[in-house]
Amino acid sequence: MAVGKVSWFLLSGACLVLVVALWMNRSDENQTQHRLQLILQGLLKTETELQVEPSLKIAVGFGACLDVIVPSRHVFRNLKAPERPRNHDVLNTHDELLETFTYYFKHGAAAERFVANATLFREVLQQAKSSSEWRSTLGGNAALLATRFALEGAQVLLGSHMSADLKESLPEGVTVAGPEIDEDDYHMLLEYAAGEKFIQYKAPRANRFIIHNDHVNPRFRSIEGFDDKMKNFQPSLFVLGGVHVMDNFPYREGQLDSSMNRLLTVLQEIPTSTAIHFEMGSFVDHDLLKRIVRQVLPLSQSLGMNEQELANLNSLLKYDNISYVSDSYPRVATVLDQTRELFQSLYDSAPNGRPLSRIHIHTLAFQAILRVVRDPKHSVFEWMNTRASAAKSALTAHRHTCGSHDIDINRAKIIMDDSFTTTNGPNRQRIPFDPDEPVRCWNEVLQGTKVEVEFCVAPVLVCTKVLQTGGGGDNVSAAGLVLQV
Ligand SMILES: *[C@@H]1O[C@H](CO)[C@@H](O)[C@H](O)[C@H]1NC(C)=O
Ligand SMILES: *[C@@H]1O[C@H](CO)[C@@H](O)[C@H](O)[C@H]1NC(C)=O
Ligand SMILES: *[C@@H]1O[C@H](CO)[C@@H](O)[C@H](O)[C@H]1NC(C)=O
Repeated sequence: MAVGKVSWFLLSGACLVLVVALWMNRSDENQTQHRLQLILQGLLKTETELQVEPSLKIAVGFGACLDVIVPSRHVFRNLKAPERPRNHDVLNTHDELLETFTYYFKHGAAAERFVANATLFREVLQQAKSSSEWRSTLGGNAALLATRFALEGAQVLLGSHMSADLKESLPEGVTVAGPEIDEDDYHMLLEYAAGEKFIQYKAPRANRFIIHNDHVNPRFRSIEGFDDKMKNFQPSLFVLGGVHVMDNFPYREGQLDSSMNRLLTVLQEIPTSTAIHFEMGSFVDHDLLKRIVRQVLPLSQSLGMNEQELANLNSLLKYDNISYVSDSYPRVATVLDQTRELFQSLYDSAPNGRPLSRIHIHTLAFQAILRVVRDPKHSVFEWMNTRASAAKSALTAHRHTCGSHDIDINRAKIIMDDSFTTTNGPNRQRIPFDPDEPVRCWNEVLQGTKVEVEFCVAPVLVCTKVLQTGGGGDNVSAAGLVLQV
């Protein structure tokens, strides 16, 4: 009898614990949902406070292609692990492709490589097309940037050659300045999910590895005739993207110089009433990147890039070397410090050009925008609405990766901590992350240059059911720019 009583007592006690645990778990979940809902509302409210002027004109260069998107596991099936995953700057053989892909997969880092071997490229393309899940869309950074600007309501001039078929996929509002061609170049986006396994490796985040064998875009033939059309169009902003197709391209003698000169001539002829933004990209060609820093950056008032490209650019400026991969989940303080460092290194590097006054860094977890408020030495372009831009780019990051305009908080999570520090250095401030007011902005004076800047940081509702990652940077960067001019 006594034994029965004790066990009954224990059993009911255990039940009670279970009920309490379930209830607490449920209320935790409710709290998380509530927090996500508040953040979403806050971002949407900030985004809708501003509308894009229908008279806004933006020109974008250069290039377009057809992107073939396929899950990477469908291309690399039943393969042995490469002995040593490592980077190759140019891909000639299947082993080099596999080693390089595995290297970036294991770090969850975005990368883009030229496949010099056309046979190899055709083989992989065939393999991709035999997958049940491949699809193709309009690609090329310039074309994607142009698409997003037009979808946001701007009038767009796109410097690119394109087939009639591909032109059909452009939204209304984009005018193509370049010639029509018979066949578009293919770029292949090998996508993978966060936590996906490949051989013995596991991807720390969702990302993509891009390969191409493009022989048209790296020569910037689409620039021909662009100048004249630009003169009539008179845009407020010119956005340069897609330059990294030059990376490790096997130019013949003199071809690199002539391609680069074509590009620089366009930039130099743009009147000062038009601001210039440069969207970075994945560069591993040391000499080319140095050239971009020396010749293109001094003509760009605004820069956009992801965390990998930021680390790479700083590494080149500081140590004169290339950084192949960096942390794919960087802290806010680290990214802000790197952004300050980049700004300071480039400060005064444009004596006759256009002083830098805006940097947008897009990461998986958050968006950060630096805007110059006061520069004691130069008169700078005045970018508007940084807060709304950060909100819009954060929302666009989710919309793009989840592939839907409407945001479902059941498919979202916040990776950012409850608070962040503004720097890892001295005078750090801790900024609490307030779900009611999700975009945090503050002004500060940069040491050394005495330039006053505004920083805005917006959390991304990270998509948990990823549909696509490639093209994300272009979508996000364009969304961030469209409210600032
Ligand atoms: C190019 O790729 C093909 C197919 O993988 C291969 O058979 C050939 O050896 C490669 N050529 C070179 C020069 O590496
Ligand atoms: C670049 O150079 C610095 C300083 O010498 C070094 O610490 C860093 O590891 C180098 N990075 C790469 C990728 O070689
Ligand atoms: C950008 O995001 C939209 C969703 O808002 C999506 O439909 C589109 O595929 C994305 N990519 C581009 C290049 O516009």
